[in-house]
Amino acid sequence: MQKGKFIVIEGLDGSGKGTQIKLLCQRLKDAGIKIYPTFEPTSGKIGVLIREALSGKFKVTQNTIGLMFSADRTEHNTEIQKALDDGCCVICDRYYYSTIAYQGRGSEEQFLWTCALNLNNSGIRKPDLCVFLDVNPDICMDRIDTNRDKKEIYEKADILREVRSEYQKLFDYMKNIGRNENITVIPSDGEKNEISDKLFDAVYKTIVDKA
Ligand code: TMP
Repeated sequence: MQKGKFIVIEGLDGSGKGTQIKLLCQRLKDAGIKIYPTFEPTSGKIGVLIREALSGKFKVTQNTIGLMFSADRTEHNTEIQKALDDGCCVICDRYYYSTIAYQGRGSEEQFLWTCALNLNNSGIRKPDLCVFLDVNPDICMDRIDTNRDKKEIYEKADILREVRSEYQKLFDYMKNIGRNENITVIPSDGEKNEISDKLFDAVYKTIVDKA
């Protein structure tokens, strides 16, 4: 029986997601909540292979990497389930929304295929909350240009713009098909502490919700 809540944080590369997750985890700990922070791609065997592909070390097609992310996630679910059963709140940096937004780009067929791989997979559980930190892709790209020596394959302005539209398309799609997902979009171009307050509020509300 799941005792903890499963929370996912999503955002574009360069959105400040990592910083916000660190702040969130600290605040949840301070509030006495037992948390289990985790991330995708994972540090497991498939996740390590994915990181190599993201760095450009070897080339893979969009479909192959989509399958790799989904396989990594299926393995990750055993770890997530255990943490939830132990009564922890799992805070996961990226989940299936990323696969659909990044690998579902290009065509309707591609989008629906990535949805099917993840949303109709009994080995991939549905989160209790997904928060999307919505940052203008140009701001993300500026941060990436300033902070990274080496860029990963998706860290390009045109790709980030496409990915942002895909996230929006996915959230609309989920509503339209009546899929019961709990999604909160936080406009996150602004001040770090204000974003952190909004993120904490959304997550805390879900954690204390007994339903
Ligand atoms: P990170 O910057 O959050 O560590 O994410 C690594 C990259 O992997 C980022 O460019 C997004 C990408 N990604 C996908 O394309 N599909 C996925 O399913 C996941 C989890 C990440």
